[in-house]
Amino acid sequence: MVKLGVNIDHIATLRQARREFDPDPVMAARLCEEAGAHSIVAHLREDRRHIQDRDILLLRKTLKVRLNLEMSIDPGVVKMALEVLPNQATLVPEHRQEITTEGGLDVVRNLRKIKKVTDALSQKGIEVSLFIAPDKKQIDAVHAIGVGIIELHTGPFANAFAGRLGQKEFTQIKMMTHYARQLGMVVNAGHGLNYDNTYAIAHLKGIEELNIGHAIMSRAVFVGLKQAVREMLALIK
Ligand code: PXP
Repeated sequence: MVKLGVNIDHIATLRQARREFDPDPVMAARLCEEAGAHSIVAHLREDRRHIQDRDILLLRKTLKVRLNLEMSIDPGVVKMALEVLPNQATLVPEHRQEITTEGGLDVVRNLRKIKKVTDALSQKGIEVSLFIAPDKKQIDAVHAIGVGIIELHTGPFANAFAGRLGQKEFTQIKMMTHYARQLGMVVNAGHGLNYDNTYAIAHLKGIEELNIGHAIMSRAVFVGLKQAVREMLALIK
């Protein structure tokens, strides 16, 4: 079965609206685990706008499933990752003004800078994944620097889902999944996936794990977090 990683950033966003203690993303992670999530994803941003260092430290101590730390190559965050040792680090581009991660990493253009970070993380035994557009040149670049896991950016597919362009984006993801699998890579996917469009991606041959945040948290507001995670898992199955 395709695995589900639940991104809990939005729980922290709600907490930070008051800068108090509730709702606690660590508690959210526990509920996601109980509902069957295969991993927990948290993005420690350079500006600490939602997830805080304390969350990552506690998640590392208390999670039974894998912790996937989403992060940029900002030196301060890299230092934190090297200390905390999450099971996995997913490198993403990060811009201060963005509402959420906007595009994939440009590995082609930033090869050396990214390799320095991926080497340091790998040497500590952290699995490294790079969040990239479903693009052959980017996949080749990831392969060239010896990283074996990619997360394909499904945002453009999700945005175009209902129209003809959705089919084009879907075909591109399908072809690039096949291409990366042939190179021996693990292929994950995420961004913008929801209860309508996830089915198509989850049933693509070669996809290993989906990372989903906003849709699950939005649904959780009405049906509860465990129920929202269970519904997504059922869809994937
Ligand atoms: N994967 C990556 C790399 C992301 O940056 C995000 C957003 O934090 C997600 C998955 C989850 O996206 P969404 O919240 O749209 O499900």
